[in-house]
Amino acid sequence: MQQWTHIPVLAGPVADFLLIRSDGVYVDGTLGLGGHTKFLLSRLGPQARIFGFDKDEEALEMARRNVNDARLTAVHASYVQAPQVLRSYGIDGADGALFDLGLSSYQLDNPARGFSLLRDGPLDMRFDLSASLTAEEIVNTWPLAQLERILQDYGEERNAHAIAMALMAARRNGKIETTFQLKKIVENTVRGRGKIHPATQTFQALRIAVNDELACVQEVLRVLPDLIKSGGRAGIITFHSLEDRLVKNAFKHLSSSGAWRLVNKHVVAAGYEEARQNPRSRSAKLRVIERL
Ligand SMILES: C[S@@+](CC[C@H](N)C(=O)[O-])C[C@H]1O[C@@H](n2cnc3c(N)ncnc32)[C@H](O)[C@@H]1O
Repeated sequence: MQQWTHIPVLAGPVADFLLIRSDGVYVDGTLGLGGHTKFLLSRLGPQARIFGFDKDEEALEMARRNVNDARLTAVHASYVQAPQVLRSYGIDGADGALFDLGLSSYQLDNPARGFSLLRDGPLDMRFDLSASLTAEEIVNTWPLAQLERILQDYGEERNAHAIAMALMAARRNGKIETTFQLKKIVENTVRGRGKIHPATQTFQALRIAVNDELACVQEVLRVLPDLIKSGGRAGIITFHSLEDRLVKNAFKHLSSSGAWRLVNKHVVAAGYEEARQNPRSRSAKLRVIERL
């Protein structure tokens, strides 16, 4: 298997904000290719442990090789399961947890995974290749109203109705099977905004729906009190406004309870140099909260 790497975004601020104990127990909820974990381990002591979660077994395999460190335990599970998994190792709570949401450069750049409108491949988009729902199933079998709803809710697509209608019409002529077929259908239906390709929002909506991403974010925000111990911190990096809104509101709610405090009043974003070197970092926003 080809070995990929992923440049972790905001790695310096993540380490500065999250690593409160050099020999602590940490959770990397979105291990990906292990970019953050490798960096965090370089700043941690010999007794530290990181439990890394990912839904994607291919990513986990590469992360194990990239990180190559006995302090990492890589787990094939949703980050939502982190409290139970830690308990199964006899650990009551973590000193810190990181969630770097969305998809890795490996998933985006690998045509076989079907995430990118720039690469022709099967319409898959699953983080977890053992899950059954694919983007192909959604575009070929979901009813009009459901297609329109995900385009609106997960893509914030203004032309949701027109695109959903175009998908219904296209599938009457045969199955929609590839990313380029989907891209063409959208291109023939709507115009893009500025430099953004007209199918960008459609691809985002499908990816979020296939992986039930917003429900996972909501659930992990709900279980944070089971995951983080007193004095510990959680950091979440988001890449679009739908996720950031969920995190911002949940953190506000937690801090107003008096049991948590916001570590950074304003979101942390990439500086000029990082944004120049790693375009992915340009839309990243980091929020950190501490359990009192
Ligand atoms: C942006 S990448 C993480 C990159 C990683 N921080 C690094 O530096 O290499 C996000 C990863 O989270 C995984 N993922 C998304 N939702 C997940 C979930 N609910 N549970 C576990 N992993 C998830 C994806 O499969 C992807 O590998």
